[in-house]
Amino acid sequence: MADGYLENRYDEVFGAKGKKVVVKRISIDSLLERNRSYRGYRKEYEVTEETLKKIVAVNTKIPSAKNQQALRFKLITKNNGAGKVLENIKLGGMLPELHLPFAGTEPEAFIIVCGTVPENKMLDIDLGISLQSMLLKAVDLGLNGLIIGAFNKENVTHEFQLPYEPLAILAIGSGAETIRLVPTSADENKAYYRNEAGVHFVPKIRAEELLIE
Ligand SMILES: Cc1cc2nc3c(=O)[nH]c(=O)nc-3n(C[C@H](O)[C@H](O)[C@H](O)COP(=O)(O)O)c2cc1C
Repeated sequence: MADGYLENRYDEVFGAKGKKVVVKRISIDSLLERNRSYRGYRKEYEVTEETLKKIVAVNTKIPSAKNQQALRFKLITKNNGAGKVLENIKLGGMLPELHLPFAGTEPEAFIIVCGTVPENKMLDIDLGISLQSMLLKAVDLGLNGLIIGAFNKENVTHEFQLPYEPLAILAIGSGAETIRLVPTSADENKAYYRNEAGVHFVPKIRAEELLIE
């Protein structure tokens, strides 16, 4: 089957009263391509708690080591603590001179992911699966996001009176940046960068170089 086959495929399904409806399928490759790390968001679009709940709901359908399901989620929206999260996260650590996010583009909705058991390898694998699944759901909803590992754990725990250890924070919003993937070699610099027009470039190692010979 050709690459991108599903991307261009329109399915015929039967809607209400047996009427034929054409539905466009979005391929996993397209979702993954659009699932970039955004560090600037449109203020015009306000993410609701309902939307965050839809995103968290993907956790009822994903793998988990020993099926332990030890992750729990604290939802933060604009009027419910977003400012406190912002004070305690670091975005774009590889572009310190830019001081991201730019004023007026700060994320205003977050999901704080916590673990009910002490952090261990299996929980961290669960965490990665959960974060990526939630990001893909956000993209599927027409939104964008960012995994944030650089945050002040003590402050966040205290500010939100969290009963469990926070492991990562997901920012969610409508992205206001232009981001491009750039194929690169394994031995080249993999740091993301921006040009004068503000386009954000993310080098990714070519598929053939990922294989062990
Ligand atoms: C575990 C993890 C932690 C991350 N933590 C941060 C962070 O604290 N701040 C940030 O700006 N980006 C963070 N990122 C985003 C990465 O910088 C980003 O994935 C990388 O630059 C590649 O860009 P892409 O996601 O668009 O492919 C994190 C990503 C992962 C997977």
